Amino acid sequence: MSKPAYYITTPIYYPSNKLHIGHSYTTVAADAMARYKRLRGYDVMFLTGTDEHGQKIERRAAEENVTPQQFVDNIVKGIKELWETMDVTYDKFIRTTDEEHKQTVQKIFKKLYDQGDIYKGAYKGLYCTPCESFFTEVQLKDGKCPDCGRPVEKVKEEAYFFKLSKYQDRLIEYIESHPEFIEPKARQNEMINNFLKPGLEDLCVSRTSFKWGIPVEFDTNHVVYVWLDALSNYISALGYMQENDERFQKFWPADVHLVGKEIVRFHTIIWPAMLMALDLPLPKQVFGHGWLVINGGKMSKSQGTVVDPNVLVERYGSDAIRYFLLREIAFGQDGNFSNEALISRINSDLANDLGNLTSRTVAMIEKYFGTLPTEQEGNEFDADVQNVIKEQIAKMEANMEKLFFNNALEDIWVIIRRMNKYIDETMPWVLAKDEANKAKLAGVLYTLAEAIRIVSIMIEPFMPRTPEKIWAQFGIERGELTAWDSIHNFGTLQKDLTAKKGENMFPRIDKEKELAVLESHAKTVETPAAKEEKKAEKSAKKEEVKEVNEISEITIDDFAKVQLKVGEVIECEKVPKADKLLVSKIKIGDEVRQIVSGIAAYYKPEEFVGKKVVVVTNLKPVKLRGILSQGMVLCASDDNGNLVAVGPLGEMVSGAEVR
Ligand code: MSP
Repeated sequence: MSKPAYYITTPIYYPSNKLHIGHSYTTVAADAMARYKRLRGYDVMFLTGTDEHGQKIERRAAEENVTPQQFVDNIVKGIKELWETMDVTYDKFIRTTDEEHKQTVQKIFKKLYDQGDIYKGAYKGLYCTPCESFFTEVQLKDGKCPDCGRPVEKVKEEAYFFKLSKYQDRLIEYIESHPEFIEPKARQNEMINNFLKPGLEDLCVSRTSFKWGIPVEFDTNHVVYVWLDALSNYISALGYMQENDERFQKFWPADVHLVGKEIVRFHTIIWPAMLMALDLPLPKQVFGHGWLVINGGKMSKSQGTVVDPNVLVERYGSDAIRYFLLREIAFGQDGNFSNEALISRINSDLANDLGNLTSRTVAMIEKYFGTLPTEQEGNEFDADVQNVIKEQIAKMEANMEKLFFNNALEDIWVIIRRMNKYIDETMPWVLAKDEANKAKLAGVLYTLAEAIRIVSIMIEPFMPRTPEKIWAQFGIERGELTAWDSIHNFGTLQKDLTAKKGENMFPRIDKEKELAVLESHAKTVETPAAKEEKKAEKSAKKEEVKEVNEISEITIDDFAKVQLKVGEVIECEKVPKADKLLVSKIKIGDEVRQIVSGIAAYYKPEEFVGKKVVVVTNLKPVKLRGILSQGMVLCASDDNGNLVAVGPLGEMVSGAEVR
């Protein structure tokens, strides 16, 4: 029987900058998934690569007195080396400068032109060169680029356009009828309400003002403009419209495009419209993940906040860094990077939890037996341990399907912590004092070794180097004992196993000392301009904190004035003619309140029904758009336009007070 196919992609990276630790997230996440699927028996196609055209590259190359090709070749080499350092096992690395890619893009362009989906017009617009994006007047922020804040240039030129507007209704219908297409859900609402419903403009897909791009075959003054070129990589890499399109036949449509949240828009509007125009099936899912941020902001070179993954891998090993990245960014949210957070995770999760569990178990087997006797007896904690393992495996597998990597890791760590507790419960060192407990002691150590074997298999997608180190200590060879399916059968490990201490997998890090080293390293890479900016930012932050403290410190009595209660949404509908508003009936204990909330962009009415939320119940009632609102639903929101309603983390009756 042939293996089922699984196709996962990362975005293709701009080679204009040195990649930082944040960039590594998408690729490491995709790698974890690719490895997981391979372990589960899939024929995996994992694609990554580089997005090499555009005016910015042309300019940078000219500044450095090299050709654009030389410029990108050099950077791409570094990117490939980085993925090797991070143990990324891509199946293909596509470059948009590859001959096959160029040909596919030219053919796509021609086909769309021939069928009338691409037409010639004139582009008048405001252009941000660093972001390679056009904006309309209204999209600007204080007259500057809304993405990077830099000035934009007015440009007018002859250009080809893709009829994006034509696909608007089909896109809305598709997204609404395929709830799994865009993850997380909040992004789905954002795309529909903020971009699709207000109306799409046709998309400029060629430029004449620079040369570094794929020439439009039938009008060579033009080069294909960025997104049509870039997005096509997902199918050009498979051989679409090329002589050998075997991979395309096998792997398209993709199972998932993994992308950072800022490019979800291009992947869920432009890309599907292109595919519809080409009459191709759409990818099954576009998954938009959060960013790794520093002090709440995106890593940025000018701010001196880029962290070099090479330095971190050199000091702590790739497994630790991969673990950190996948553990720290929660599904749909940003994760914070700091050297402290990294070291804490290494010390607590890796050195303490996993490292100690393994080294204690190996040390005890070595000390008490060397090779375990086959006569083994169970104890009263075994059933619970086996239950926990079974449950956690099921949870982890479910979380992996959803690409909730951090939850999947947490699921594994529940097992690890349960096993450390098992050592405390069974106290092998006490059992060892009495020869009569020999079988019981052997049973305890076997259970530990078997749990560790199971854990070692489960962590392999995330930390590919560690399992081998664990297996070496138990004399396990890659094969049946390391196969994924074996984790479902507790007791697969042979009873008479032998253990032998190996290298310390995760030595504890002296936090103070290590922070000083990392700090001194950061100083050497900081540019003077970045330093100045940092200083100014620091003092501005201080001022801000001072201000916040002065204005907003409240006493517990002040806080007690606000009455907060748990409420259950029992009905919800849109407020007519008010795009942003939902009106809900919320049950709070015995009473039902009507509350209007500005959350229509984030929740569909039917999605909101049944949710338990926190409500401010002693707020003066107001009328919003003529509708009475008797309270307020608490919501959390960030600067990136994400919003979620706040509710109790566990079971709690409606009407319960929140204090
Ligand atoms: N070239 C485009 C993508 C074209 S895909 C057809 C691009 N390239 S990029 O180099 O700017 O970004 C590549 C990926 O890195 C994006 O998914 C982006 O979200 C991700 N990240 C960049 N900085 C990041 C963090 N600080 N944290 C997490 N991911 C980050 O966009």
